[in-house]
Amino acid sequence: MFGPMSLLSLFALVQSNDNGLALTPPMGWMAWERFRCDTDCQEDPENCISEVLFRDMADRLYEDGWRELGYEYVIIDDCWMSKARDQDGRLQPDPDRFPSGIARLAEYVHSRGLKLGIYADMGRYTCMGFPGTTLDRIKTDAQTFADWGVDYLKFDGCSSNPLEQMLGYPLMSKALNATGRPMVYSCSWPVYVGSLPPEVNYTLLGNICHLWRNYYDIQDSWESVKFIKDWFFKNQDYIQPAAGPGRWNDPDMLIIGNFGLSLDQSRAQMALWSIMAAPLIMSNNLRQLDASTQAILQNKLAIIINQDPLGIQGRQLLTEKSKIEVYWRPLVDSNSALAFLSMRSDMPYLYHTSLGKLGYDVGIYQVHDVFGGSKPKTLNSTEVFTVSINPSGVVMWYLAPANRRAGVNQALIQFRSRSRMRL
Ligand SMILES: *[C@@H]1O[C@H](CO)[C@@H](O)[C@H](O)[C@H]1NC(C)=O
Ligand SMILES: *[C@@H]1O[C@H](CO)[C@@H](O)[C@H](O)[C@H]1NC(C)=O
Ligand SMILES: *[C@@H]1O[C@H](CO)[C@@H](O)[C@H](O)[C@H]1NC(C)=O
Repeated sequence: MFGPMSLLSLFALVQSNDNGLALTPPMGWMAWERFRCDTDCQEDPENCISEVLFRDMADRLYEDGWRELGYEYVIIDDCWMSKARDQDGRLQPDPDRFPSGIARLAEYVHSRGLKLGIYADMGRYTCMGFPGTTLDRIKTDAQTFADWGVDYLKFDGCSSNPLEQMLGYPLMSKALNATGRPMVYSCSWPVYVGSLPPEVNYTLLGNICHLWRNYYDIQDSWESVKFIKDWFFKNQDYIQPAAGPGRWNDPDMLIIGNFGLSLDQSRAQMALWSIMAAPLIMSNNLRQLDASTQAILQNKLAIIINQDPLGIQGRQLLTEKSKIEVYWRPLVDSNSALAFLSMRSDMPYLYHTSLGKLGYDVGIYQVHDVFGGSKPKTLNSTEVFTVSINPSGVVMWYLAPANRRAGVNQALIQFRSRSRMRL
């Protein structure tokens, strides 16, 4: 179908993600981790993959204060489709579970000031065996999603080979662009080809996709969060430079509010994902979150760190023999975030260090404890300080140079005006 030369020129020309979307990491809600491929609407009508679930989640995002904070995408994952395409070869939703159709669902979601995401798969079948998008169907499917008013596509990669993926992911980028409807494009490509260079070209990914799933699916456990965290920071030299406005590494969904994480571990996931400039896409049951879980996911300073307009992904600074790990992310206006994570399993650990030791310039800093909520304090970079970190817990700080009166209040004001613009 394509010779090697046309392949190269395709890569050189395609830069179709540059449509002004996802300038900060996308935020929202996605069905997969919590609701999987539950298609049993007889026995489990509230939790099965159906239009009811997505309308309910849109209602929750709209009514419970999520949308104002930036959680705006409601994203359908696998198992929404009918097992067969329609007579014109287009994908269609399962008629029993989505009787009103996707276009109506998109209208509903839009009426609440939110956006709709959908799922397709580069290959013969989706991961759960529904109709896939082979190379010859890419244009049709992109157009179908645009016609329905979809705002975001997650493009998975089950049942295709690396050559098909190398052709298909850029082609879908072009096809989405050609519809004229701005859509966020999430690529699962790197997971299927080993996650690292030379198999994965992160420059190319950044040119064609707004975000990409680097590594394995998250599961509902601290083990899984640790596994993903370890991979992302072990390989930070490859992936950290790839991120920026309009192009994000995606360590997968936030599982906060489900069954696998303690409150400390939930804060740890929120902190790590904020440091990583990761998409904040929850997969939980928004109908039944308790207040302390909701407070973690709605923590304004954590969200401000995650959504920082510079879009520089943070890094692991060091890991101590004591199993304390320190993370850092530079933010706008010379502000920054630090996270102190404990991988211990005994008791709160008193960790001593100084900002100078962590590489900060000489000076005085205003420090806000993101989850501690106490009053900000000032800290001389030479001063040794102590943080008490719970087992599998985190302490996260937002820091601003104290010589600028602006500091965190300025960041809050800027965030408010940005999130208003988003609505
Ligand atoms: C298509 O790509 C061009 C070039 O990157 C960009 O300016 C435009 O906004 C894109 N359009 C859509 C609908 O994504
Ligand atoms: C990666 O992709 C970019 C953009 O298409 C290209 O310029 C570069 O040569 C590629 N790098 C490698 C190692 O293939
Ligand atoms: C910070 O502390 C050092 C001593 O550790 C001191 O010399 C310096 O004056 C202090 N800076 C300020 C601005 O107080």
